[in-house]
Formats: sequence, C-alpha cells, structure tokens
Amino acid sequence: MKVSETTVKLLADSGNLPDEVLCALLGTNEYDAELFSAADRVRREVYGDEVYIRGLIEFTNYCKNNCYYCGIRRDNKSAVRYRLDKEEILDCCREGYRLGFRTFVLQGGEDPFFSDMRICEIVSAIREEFPDCAITLSIGEKTKESYLAFFNAGANRYLLRHETAEAGHYSRLHPKDMSLEKRKRCLFDLKEIGYQVGSGFMVGSPGQTIENLLADLRFLQELQPDMIGIGPYITHAQTPFAKCESGSLELTLRMVSVLRLMFPYALIPSTTALGTIHPKGRELGLKAGANVVMPNLSPVRVRKLYELYENKICTGEEAAQCRGCLERRVESAGYHIVTAVGNVKKPHSADKI
Ligand code: 5AD
Ligand code: FES
Repeated sequence: MKVSETTVKLLADSGNLPDEVLCALLGTNEYDAELFSAADRVRREVYGDEVYIRGLIEFTNYCKNNCYYCGIRRDNKSAVRYRLDKEEILDCCREGYRLGFRTFVLQGGEDPFFSDMRICEIVSAIREEFPDCAITLSIGEKTKESYLAFFNAGANRYLLRHETAEAGHYSRLHPKDMSLEKRKRCLFDLKEIGYQVGSGFMVGSPGQTIENLLADLRFLQELQPDMIGIGPYITHAQTPFAKCESGSLELTLRMVSVLRLMFPYALIPSTTALGTIHPKGRELGLKAGANVVMPNLSPVRVRKLYELYENKICTGEEAAQCRGCLERRVESAGYHIVTAVGNVKKPHSADKI
C-alpha cells in the first residue's frame, strides 16, 4: 500500500490509525519530510521550541540480568564493573544543578549491592539537598513495595522500557527468567503508586517485525506513559547478538514522528543511541518530534564503562562539557534548552489536540 499525504494528515488530526495503515507507514521510506514536519508542528503547538534536559547519572554497571542485546549483561566477563557511592552521586547532582539541570536520572544495572535501603538513602539525600528537582530512577524491575519505598523517599519519576510488547519477540531478546508479563506489571505498579512513568523500546532489535512495532504502539496507548524513550538497537561484540545488524536511523526517526503524532503531550527524548548511529542523530530526532535530551553527568572516568552498546558518544574528554555541546546542537536544530523541571504537559479539555 502506498503511504500518502492523507495518511500523515489523518494521523496528525486524529492521533491514531488503523493497524494496516500504521504498518504501511512504518514499512516505507517514502514521505519522511512530510511526516517529520507534521510531527514538528504538533510538537511546537504543545511545547513550543523548548527542549528539556535530564542529567543522566549512570551509577552502577553491575547487572544480575543477562539480556541478549546488552553490553553490561551478567555474562560479559570483559566488562569492567564500577559503582559510584552516595557522595559521588551527590557530587554529580551538585555539578548538574550548577549547570542548570533540574532533573536527575539515576540509572544503573540491576545491582543487588544497591539494596532498597541504599537506594532510599541516596534518594532522600538528593531530595533533601535539591527540593526543587525531579528525581528519576531507572534501575529495573522491583517489587511494588520497593517502588513504593523509593517513592516515599522522594523519587517521583521512573524509566523502564518495555523493550518489545510482543511476548514471542520479548523471549527472543531475554533469557527465560524474564517475562513481558512481569515487565508490564512493573509499569502498571509504578503508575498506580503515582510515579510519572517512562517506557519505550529499541528500534531494529534482532527479529523485530513491523507488527512488533505496531504492538509497541498499541501497548503504549494502553499504558499512556508520560515519557517514551526509543533508540536504535546497536550491536555489542560481547553479547550473543554480536553478529546482528544495528537498527536504522531512518526507521527510528519515523517512529519518533509517529509517537509525537500519537502522543502529542509525551516527553520524547532524542537519545544517545540516536546520536551514536549518526553524527547528527540527536538533532534529527528533535526535528522529527523529540523534545528532551539527556546528557551524561557521570564522572568522565566511568562513562566508557557504561557500555550498553558499542561506540557510545560522550565518553571521551570532550564529554566533560556535554551541557555546552548539547546546547549548541539543540540551537542548531532550531530549539532551545530550558532550565526547568520539565513536567509533561497534560491536555486541557479546551485543547483541540
Ligand atoms: N542497543 C541499543 N539500546 C540498548 N539498550 C540496552 N542495550 C542496548 C543496545 N545494545 C537500551 C535498552 C535499555 C536502555 C537503558 O538501553 O532499551 O532499556
Ligand atoms: Fe555530550 Fe556533545 S553532548 S559531548
């Protein structure tokens, strides 16, 4: 089926399309410019030219999981492991605050060393010192009780990508001890507790079909997350997927635009993975509808070690000044970074969108 201008217009106007039409839209390289500019129009209607920044602190690369795609999986014995302690994490926040960050994202592997008590201590310390900031956790699957304890300690956002919403594909990407059902349960638990929730998936992961991507969109419609993070899958040599191809820039950008049109109010980051597969990947992501960037605040000495995939950007000496670098990149794309907590905008009943 040929994707026409009308399809893009229908998606922009109604925020939805029937399954077959969505699949056709994702399965072609045609009409990109139209799709991107429709997404940019919607993004500007809701968020203007503002880009929110999140300071990413990758505080541990130990992980008890063994996801087939991930460079810090348990069985990668050549990964050099590290942990930051509470003081080091607080130092990252202090530096971040000085640079204008009002959201800190604590991301790590599923590291049993960081017990609930340790996480709560870290979160409370950040909450006390930075009462005007949002604290985001991204530390994987936990029990509802644990999520509640973190929330009570002061965390208010949580990122947990569902990775793929089709059970068969999920089991191609993960060992048997992980399940899509559990992943989804976690996401709904987080929502019930009152977190602002972020989910998302990789584009072009091994075995992914257009129908899988459709399932991702339908699942997100059900979950209604505040943030949707996507990026291309990128191969890592020390994983069972070493021989698999990476995802493409084009399909990732097309997904970003489709997400913007389906979720006009969502926070959509232009991810590091996008910047890794193309020198202008993050700028292109913004132009395709993304409105968040997440520069790294981790100490430069550990950045290369948090290697989910190969050739990750912002890991060398240049990265000491990610904030300035990104500011210039965002401006060059036609947007500007704001110093704000950057909450999701909720639709007003009077809004047309
Ligand atoms: N390529 C791209 N993204 C990856 N992630 C993990 N491994 C890879 C990879 N090889 C993503 C996952 C995870 C997020 C933190 O990073 O989607 O949720
Ligand atoms: Fe990190 Fe440019 S954004 S060095």
